[in-house]
Amino acid sequence: MTDIFYKANLKCPICDGVLMLEDQKTLYCNGQKKHAYDLSSSGYVNLSSPKQCGGGDTKEAVRARSAFLDAGYYKPISDKILELLTLYGNGGERVVDAGCGEGYYTVQAAKNGFFTLGFDISKSAVEAAAKRARRDSIKNGVYGVASIYSLPIFDACADAVINIFAPCVEAEFSRVLVKGGVLVVAWAGKSHLMGLKSAIYEETQENDVRNDLPRELELLCEERLEYDITLTDNAKIRSLFAMTPYYWRTSQKDAGKLDKLEELKTNIDINFSVYRKN
Ligand SMILES: C[S@@+](CC[C@H](N)C(=O)[O-])C[C@H]1O[C@@H](n2cnc3c(N)ncnc32)[C@H](O)[C@@H]1O
Repeated sequence: MTDIFYKANLKCPICDGVLMLEDQKTLYCNGQKKHAYDLSSSGYVNLSSPKQCGGGDTKEAVRARSAFLDAGYYKPISDKILELLTLYGNGGERVVDAGCGEGYYTVQAAKNGFFTLGFDISKSAVEAAAKRARRDSIKNGVYGVASIYSLPIFDACADAVINIFAPCVEAEFSRVLVKGGVLVVAWAGKSHLMGLKSAIYEETQENDVRNDLPRELELLCEERLEYDITLTDNAKIRSLFAMTPYYWRTSQKDAGKLDKLEELKTNIDINFSVYRKN
């Protein structure tokens, strides 16, 4: 246990001191004030600064995401990320999952031999990620509540950063990457979930183009993954809906259209970009 925190290169969010596990349940920094951070019973640590605290996915969204991801519908996305990490990575093992959510992709990476650091601003999400890792007997990972705009790790200590359906923060990801390290970004393509949107809205629009993608890192590859899924019961349809941003933007009347739906076919359309820090 001491080893994984040592390997994670965690830094104190208050004074930038080195964080180390001292008594199996608390991390202390080596700064003058010896700031302390307890490990939760599920094994994550809250490293958000008081300014950043709160926000991110709600407990409800986290639960919906876990239910949906556990059904395997996004396994091809996870496989693609691992493929890109293997193909373009520098061979190093330290992977930061920036905006890890409930840890589905983080744990898949850990299962494939990477030493993973999952960070998310949502406490519910990080708690679920730590529980997922524990359930799957994954020991080569650390989970922390933290903003990805200010990651609690030192410069140049990650071989790769994965950033899946979460804000992309080029400067911060670049700071934590080693020279030659890679960033893999995955986000919704223009027609992602059009089948779900058509079941809710009279008129559907394509997804917006992203404007926070890296500009300074070297672009190594761009890929698009498209396939169809069929959800065969209402609970899965509702889980998918509840993990999307549409859940918060849709009127009760429109959302009600899903109430009695028992089958939904929808398309998955994901963009991937891989960048290298030179
Ligand atoms: C759409 S979810 C994706 C989660 C996960 N990557 C996945 O695909 O299952 C976006 C995640 O980004 C997190 N997030 C949003 N803003 C963040 C920030 N500033 N710092 C850390 N996490 C953030 C949310 O809490 C949420 O868990």
